[in-house]
Amino acid sequence: MNIAQALALRGEPESYERQENAWLLEHITKIDSFDLVMKKEQVLTAEQEQSYVDALKRIEAGEPLAYVTGSQPFWTLDLKVTKDTLVPRPDTEVLVETVLHLDLPEDARIVDLGTGTGAIALSLASERPDWDITATDIYEPTLEVAQFNAEQHDLNHVKFACGSWLNALNRNQYFDVIVSNPPYIDADDVHMKDLATEPKRALVAENHGLADIELIIQQGQKYLTANGWIALEHGYDQADAVQQLFKKYGFKDIRTVKDYGGNDRVTLACHA
Ligand SMILES: C[S@@+](CC[C@H](N)C(=O)[O-])C[C@H]1O[C@@H](n2cnc3c(N)ncnc32)[C@H](O)[C@@H]1O
Repeated sequence: MNIAQALALRGEPESYERQENAWLLEHITKIDSFDLVMKKEQVLTAEQEQSYVDALKRIEAGEPLAYVTGSQPFWTLDLKVTKDTLVPRPDTEVLVETVLHLDLPEDARIVDLGTGTGAIALSLASERPDWDITATDIYEPTLEVAQFNAEQHDLNHVKFACGSWLNALNRNQYFDVIVSNPPYIDADDVHMKDLATEPKRALVAENHGLADIELIIQQGQKYLTANGWIALEHGYDQADAVQQLFKKYGFKDIRTVKDYGGNDRVTLACHA
C-alpha cells in the first residue's frame, strides 16, 4: 500500500477522517504532513502498514486519535496523553488565553486544579516563565503524565501536588488565580456515550455537573489573594448557573467568555 492509498482508506476527500488519517500516517512514518503529499507514491513498509491498519481499527472502535498516537498538540506544546488523562480539547485554550489577559503581578501565583496532562498549567508556564505555577490532580498516575510533560518541555519550575481540589495544597498558600477545567458533565448526559474511552473521573460531576465547580468556588475563596481570580471552564449551557454560584459566594466582576465555536465556555470572577 502506498501513502495515497493509505490516506484514502477511510473517509471522504477533505473530511476530518482524512485529516486524522494524515496525522496517523505522519506519526507512524515520521514524514510530516506537507511531505506526505509530496511522497504519495511511497510504499509503506509491512510494519508501517500493519501499525496503520491496527490504529485505524482502534479509531473506528471509538478511541480518540490521541490515545492511539499517545500525544496531543495543545497551545504550542505537544503533550503526552495516556488512558489516565483526558485528551486536552482546543476549547480549553480559551481558558489559557483568559488567564493570560488578566492584569496580574509579574510573579503571579497560579494554581491549575485537575491538571490532567498539565495542559493549562504548562501552557501558562511556557508563556509566563516568571509566574509561580502549581498543578494538582486527584489521581497520582495522571499527575505523573503531567510531570513527564513538564520535563519534556523544560518547564521544571512548575510544582505538582496530589489531592482533592484545594485539599492538595497547604492551607497557608494564596494564589492570584485559581484556574480549572473540572469535570462538569451530568452522568446521564447523552454525550457520555461518545466519551466512554476517557476517564469518568475527568468528566462527570454530581448536581447536574456543577458539584465540583461549586466546591472549587467555595473552597477556593479561602486560598485567593485580595482581588484574586477564579477562572473555570464549564459546559456550553452552564454559564448562568456558574455565574449564580460566584454570586452566592460573594465574588465580583463576574463574566463569561465564549469558545471558538461561539458557546459560553469560561466564567471568571474576582474575589471581593
Ligand atoms: C476535565 S479534566 C481536565 C484535565 C486538564 N486540565 C485539561 O483541561 O485537559 C478534569 C481533571 O480533574 C481531575 N479531578 C477529578 N476530580 C478531582 C478532584 N476531586 N480533585 C482534583 N482533581 C480532580 C481529573 O483527574 C482530571 O484530570
